[in-house]
Amino acid sequence: MEACENTIRLEIYRWEPRREPRPRFQFFHRPWQSRLTVLGLLQEVYEEHDSSLAFRSSCREGICGACAMLVNGRYRLACATPVADLGTKCITVAPLPRLRVIKDLVVDLEPFWRAHEAVRPYLTPPSGPPGGREFLQSPRDRERMGQAIACILCGSCFSACPTHWTGKHDLGPAALTRTFRFYADSRDGDGAARLARADRGLWRCRYALNCTDACPRNVNPAHHIRELRRQAVRSWLGRVTRRT
Ligand code: SF4
Ligand code: FES
Repeated sequence: MEACENTIRLEIYRWEPRREPRPRFQFFHRPWQSRLTVLGLLQEVYEEHDSSLAFRSSCREGICGACAMLVNGRYRLACATPVADLGTKCITVAPLPRLRVIKDLVVDLEPFWRAHEAVRPYLTPPSGPPGGREFLQSPRDRERMGQAIACILCGSCFSACPTHWTGKHDLGPAALTRTFRFYADSRDGDGAARLARADRGLWRCRYALNCTDACPRNVNPAHHIRELRRQAVRSWLGRVTRRT
């Protein structure tokens, strides 16, 4: 089936593992609207064709990360992807791969959140606020965190990481990026413990760079993992030198 000039041909991954033996793709035709996003398309299908379609969304502004999925084979946020940007009127949507499908485009993110929780993803100041004031941070200190602060925990990098596919990466790129984000924060006082907690995942990365390629927010998890490794080696050398 070809898309006509004023029609979008939409192909959606459908599967409810509890009821169906295998996944399938379902086709829909929708009128072309240049300002529509992929999430808008899914919403139209849900409202006008099939209310059993399952997908996640919340903010519709590219902020919450809920709508991450594969669009024409690429990791994207459906709400931040105008159909006009895809360069085609044939659109295929599928769930984040290598994660258990719960239903249609909804995957089980439990392993992702478990990894996130394990790195204690919150600021731990060394002591109370200085002089009863808020913690101030200079623009230069803010720079040290770089783009790591832009992560919205969409799960794309976790899904794309080949070490995660082998089952050996129990932290994954997002949790390590979050570790770096707080490690590099001048207001945090938990640096050494953060490195120790990250250790079990830090050395499993093989720099496939899938994470960096997948990220819809232009975060570079591979770079942050490399930076954490540098800091871990530096801290280890410091301990050895002190002992000798
Ligand atoms: S680093 Fe990018 S791909 Fe990974 S969870 Fe954060 S926003 Fe998503
Ligand atoms: S709905 Fe929040 S990022 Fe798409």
